Amino acid sequence: MELNKKNSINNILEENRTFPPSKEFSNSAIIKSKKDLFDLREKARKNPNEFWDSYAKTEIDWFRPYETVLDRNKAPFFRWFPEGQLNITYNCLDRHIKNGLGDKNALIWEGEPGDSKTYSYKDLLKEVCKAANALKSLGVKKGELVCIYMPMIPEAMIAMLACARIGAPHSVVFGGFSSESLKDRVIDGNAKFIITADGGYRKDKVIELKKAVDSAIDSGAGDVVNKVIVIKRTNKEISMKLNRDFWWHELLENQDDWCEPEIMNSEDRLFILYTSGSTGKPKGVVHTIAGYNLWTHLTFKWIFDIKSDDIYWCTADVGWITGHSYIVYGPLSNGSTTLMYEGVPRPSNLGAFWQIIQKYKVSIFYTAPTAIRSFMKSGREIPDKYDLSSLRLLGTVGEPINPEAWIWYKDVIGNNQCPIVDTWWQTETGGVMISPLPGAIDTKPGSATLPLPGIEVEIVNKEGSRVEINEGGYLIIRKPWPGMMRTIHGNSQRFLESYWDFIPHKEEPFVYFAGDGARIDNDGYVWIMGRVDDVISVSGHRLGTMEIESALVSHESVAEAAVVGKKDELKGEAIVAFVSLEKNFKNSDQLVDEIKLHVVSEIGVIAKPEKIIITDSLPKTRSGKIMRRILRSLASGEKVSGDISTLEDSSVLEKLKKDS
Ligand code: WT7
Repeated sequence: MELNKKNSINNILEENRTFPPSKEFSNSAIIKSKKDLFDLREKARKNPNEFWDSYAKTEIDWFRPYETVLDRNKAPFFRWFPEGQLNITYNCLDRHIKNGLGDKNALIWEGEPGDSKTYSYKDLLKEVCKAANALKSLGVKKGELVCIYMPMIPEAMIAMLACARIGAPHSVVFGGFSSESLKDRVIDGNAKFIITADGGYRKDKVIELKKAVDSAIDSGAGDVVNKVIVIKRTNKEISMKLNRDFWWHELLENQDDWCEPEIMNSEDRLFILYTSGSTGKPKGVVHTIAGYNLWTHLTFKWIFDIKSDDIYWCTADVGWITGHSYIVYGPLSNGSTTLMYEGVPRPSNLGAFWQIIQKYKVSIFYTAPTAIRSFMKSGREIPDKYDLSSLRLLGTVGEPINPEAWIWYKDVIGNNQCPIVDTWWQTETGGVMISPLPGAIDTKPGSATLPLPGIEVEIVNKEGSRVEINEGGYLIIRKPWPGMMRTIHGNSQRFLESYWDFIPHKEEPFVYFAGDGARIDNDGYVWIMGRVDDVISVSGHRLGTMEIESALVSHESVAEAAVVGKKDELKGEAIVAFVSLEKNFKNSDQLVDEIKLHVVSEIGVIAKPEKIIITDSLPKTRSGKIMRRILRSLASGEKVSGDISTLEDSSVLEKLKKDS
């Protein structure tokens, strides 16, 4: 792995502006000052176990208390609160009803075609119980994985919670992934059940989810899957197979609206969620119940400084970790009102987001830099038409935000009244790790600021030594934290290799390697520079270059492929593929289009290469390794610099330049 700045769209060294929170915001915040924050950090540093214990005791309801806070015996397979018993849905639903919040809105949902629905905590619990009973009636057992492949409709959340209610871990597959991707995930997780919908609405189109499930089953997932539950959403004709496919509404119709929460152990699995790495197929990141519950609960409360009357909206899809942690579990565990929107802004409705904020008086808004950049491009006239005065706090997640977009967000959307929380984290970390606590510290555009209390971040070089202030290096996390991933499903070796074996460290036997490059400035603020491995981020979606390469070479015309990310003003990075063809194929626009579509059908539309460059001269070292560094420079139109003496054939450079 090389350390580079390919993803560094921050103008790091020149960015010195700081923005303190208003007095008013700080005074009513949960953590009010830098001093309070630093005291908390110090407390966590001095005695981590006591620190985590104090929150686990008070913020989580247990059916049986734990005795041990952190079990390090099998490190880095850390175990948190191992003797404890709980059910996360009890913490997300029942306890709020017991505390008198039964009629409070748990979920406000806005559909893409303009329909909408709200669920109080009582309503949501009833639906979850009915769905849980329906799953049981189909034979879903505790511990058995259920795959959820859904559009952004309330039933996606209900299905997740229903699984958790009965102790069946879920594996949500983003509805934008292709049937091939679905198949791989179903087979890897050995999921016997799939919950899906006839289809979903996305950008003025209908996506045919059930059809994708059918072809996943026909092309191999059928060996694993026995039952499919289908939600009616689009009413389009679909085929239903007798005794295999069941309608959700028919199954739920006569179910009891009470289902006893299953008594679960702290370290039982809550879910698997697949994410891309630098090598091989996507990895199934495993999260377990108690630690994840605590970490999403606490981070949600701290970072969004949540108040009882907040209307909170995160624009992510539940198919990603952001949706899991900050649409479903974090907000509900806190008894908050969470808003869910089925659509994404589309050319025919660029005001969709602002209209929803106005309609529901959203007070906290959490979205991705790529969305902010596209709003910027279409001009402030659009948001200016709406009343956004209900907003009091803004957040971003998923990729570095350039200071220009940060300032625009603060000014145009936040009317300069709202602090911005730039939150750094990963599928693997379960919840946010680095973020401003909005009432406590000054923000700087483009920096995620400080690690949260209990999180020990350090920037090191390859040897594991801490680098100088403002020097770039690898981001590592020194101490375990409750929301951390537990393993990679079915591949504990890969878990060790990807995260724990890369960086040696003098003081800690196990340090977590995040895969990001970063630097820390004079004030201790962290500036994320982007991935240092072969992972690229397209509109905040994480993709492995190797995954896309495998998809490319599975096309009959492709002999060899190398994929790189190219800086993109809107998407952060765009995919550029260098491809050499098999002998009997000729370069043509038609073939290039066909190969692009092939990648879409292998992975999903998020992986569609923006550009495919056909060349028979891929730059290789003498040992046969493709030199991606050269391709990155070429894709970005930059001069190829650095050492090229290891190239097997230096004439390929000239040929390549011609082809690109
Ligand atoms: C990668 C994790 C976790 C939510 C969504 C993405 C990048 C995430 C930030 C941020 C700069 C960020 C990192 C990280 N990333 N948040 N605030 N600033 N970069 O989850 O798909 O697991 O991707 O996203 O590169 O490693 P993910």
